[in-house]
This record gives sequence, structure tokens and C-alpha cells, in this order.
Amino acid sequence: MVDGGRLWKRLSELAEIGRQEEGGVARLSFTEEERAAKDLVASYMEEAGLAVREDAAGNLFGRREGRDPEAPAVLVGSHVDSVLNGGDFDGPLGVLGGIEVLQTMDEEGVEMGRPVEVVAFTDEEGARFSLGMIGSRALTGTLLQEDLRHEDRNGVSIEQAMRNAGLDPGKVGEAARPADSLAAYLELHIEQGKVLEGEDLPVGVVTGIAGPVWLRLSFAGEAGHAGTTPMGARRDALAAAAEVVGVIEEEASDTGSTVGTVGQIEAGPGGINIIPGRVDLSLDLRDIDEAVRDRAEGRIRGRAGEVCNRRGIDLSFEELQRLPPAPCSEEIRGAISAACEKEGIRPHPLPSGAGHDGMHVAELCPMGMIFVRSKDGVSHNPKEWSSREDCEAGCKVLYLTVLDLARQR
Ligand code: GLV
Ligand code: MN
Ligand code: MN
Repeated sequence: MVDGGRLWKRLSELAEIGRQEEGGVARLSFTEEERAAKDLVASYMEEAGLAVREDAAGNLFGRREGRDPEAPAVLVGSHVDSVLNGGDFDGPLGVLGGIEVLQTMDEEGVEMGRPVEVVAFTDEEGARFSLGMIGSRALTGTLLQEDLRHEDRNGVSIEQAMRNAGLDPGKVGEAARPADSLAAYLELHIEQGKVLEGEDLPVGVVTGIAGPVWLRLSFAGEAGHAGTTPMGARRDALAAAAEVVGVIEEEASDTGSTVGTVGQIEAGPGGINIIPGRVDLSLDLRDIDEAVRDRAEGRIRGRAGEVCNRRGIDLSFEELQRLPPAPCSEEIRGAISAACEKEGIRPHPLPSGAGHDGMHVAELCPMGMIFVRSKDGVSHNPKEWSSREDCEAGCKVLYLTVLDLARQR
């Protein structure tokens, strides 16, 4: 039987890596913290009797063979990197839940038809380079050499960070898996929203993942003296950006479903007595309906252009990433729902607002996700919390779903 105590202990141990003084964790990709987290996870994989390997993108795998080593494998997993000031559950639950499932199979001597693998993907969050899901892109062969030019805030590119971590960026292509090597991908994850809490359910069945567009908006005005430049004679890049932040909030809200977030803003030159001459801000725009999202984006671009024209500001847009929404496989949704019923949990369908590696893995094989109730819907925050009982319930549903999907067909 799935050991909820062991799962909880491992979640607590992993959360100590990159622990912040003020609470929460910070494990950015290709850092010592991410390395230490992967090393700890590799030790758990070994305890679970798995064959451990790391690919050219730094994705960490543990594999358990089935009766037919040639059969496409069932892949389960998630990530161990975090956002800055992230919580203890976003990512680790899926990786450690996957290991718990495989260790339970080993202890119970369960023989599967298919191989089952658990993966800890490299950099799902995109917190360092504003390009997420690096490891799962590499797995599908869609991580391009030009993607590796994305830089962090210190001007270090993905390419350089990989070298510093002992990986050869020229070889990321070797991480690509042929589609016929995978039968299914399953991810256990915290909900990061309030739906399951509202339904009074520990676990839910994900229907699909909202598609994000990430843009950088650059505003170029003119720096000037804060004391001597009359208000009517300014080309203040930050005042223009502030107006555009309001436009983003309004346009996203008006759709009723799109969410729009400005999470980064940098103004220069950055003096108390200097009119800001330039501003860069980030925009994260998402919806489960791509057309609604894209129409909101079009309106934001148009209105931002009008604001900047009126204020004499040059505005440019850089696209950092654009993903379509990813529907979950009907077959896997059915398997998860059946597993919920066996556990006495009413199967409740819900979409994911957050992005996940499954969006990419879905290009290779059918994909499904199991959500675990989040306290108050809080995530990307040190207060992120799911109870031990709910994590265990999610892991049991994962176990039964893997048994179903990995049985020889
Ligand atoms: C990752 O959690 C994302 O959805 O941005
Ligand atoms: Mn996550
Ligand atoms: Mn996240």
C-alpha cells in the first residue's frame, strides 16, 4: 500500500533544500539547489529499486521494467525547481508521488506489462530564464539551440548555465524521446486554486491546461530632470507603463476567463530625481480558450500602442513563449476517474490554470493530470499547503491509475 508517511517525510526533506529564511523555497534551474534536490531525489529512486539516469537536458529518470522491456513506458513525474519564494509542494508532490508509486509496486511485487518511469524535469517554472518547461521541451525534441540564448537577470544564458552545471548544450537534442517509447504521461500536482476546496474533495481530474503567452514590453521615453521638466513636456516611460498595466488588468477581466499578470517591472535609470527613460515589463496572459486569450492580447497590444503614441513613447513587444492550451486525454481522464471511484472519491473534472510539463509531453503521448486540494488556493507563495492526508489520497489515485495504464494491453 502507498506509504503516506514516507511520502510526507520525503516532501519535508526536499523542502529543506533551498529553504528561505522567511519560509518557502528557491530552487532555480541549473543552480546548486536544483542539483542538490535532484541528488536527493536520485537517492530516493535508488531506495525504490529504480534504474536511475539523467539525460542531456538534466532530466532525471528512474525506471522499473515490466514484462516487456520493448513496450512503450508509462511516464509519471513533475519538477523539483521552484519559483523565487515558492512553496513546498509545486512540483515535488508529482516527483515524490511517482517514486512512492513505483516503490509500492516493488514492495508488493507487482509485475506490470509495461515499463514505468518517473521523471524530475529540468526547469518547469521558467523562473530564471522566462522560458519554462525546458526539460519537457527537450524530451519532445522541440528545445531549439536559439531557445538556449534566453538570459537570466544577470545576463547568464541557458547555454552558459548548462555548461556551468556540467551539461553540454550542444547535445540537448539527445534528450529527445521517440513518441513510440511512451504510452502515457501522468502528473500528480497540487491544484493551486480553490475548486476542490469548494467541492470538499481531496482530489480532482484535470480536463486540460490553460495556454500561456509570455511577452516582454519595452517602453523607451526620455530620461530627464525631475525638478525642471514640466509635466506636459515629459516622455515618462514608467507613467506610460503604469497606464498599460491598467489596460492589461481591464482587458483580461473583461473576458471573464483570461488572466493577465505583470510580474516583473524594471525602470531605468532608477534615480529618485530622474524621469524614467526606459521600462521593461513582463506580461503573462493565459486562458483555457486560445481564441479568447489571443483576442485579449490583440486588444492589449492595440491599446498599449495608443497609450504610447499619445505619450511619445516607443513601444516594442518581444515574445518569450506562446503555447496553446493542452486538453488531457479522454482515456486517461477515464482511468483517473475510475481510480477516484475505487478510493471512494467523487471524480470531479476541473481545468488547470497553471502550466505544466504535460503540455509538451502531450506531443509524444496521451497526457493526464491528477490534482490535490490546495489550502486557500495559494501557490507560488511560501504559504502553499496541501495536507498529508490529501497528498496520500492523490498518490493512491496515481497508483491505481498507473496500475491500469501500465497493465499489458
Ligand atoms: C508554472 O507554474 C506556471 O504556470 O507558470
Ligand atoms: Mn508545477
Ligand atoms: Mn509553479
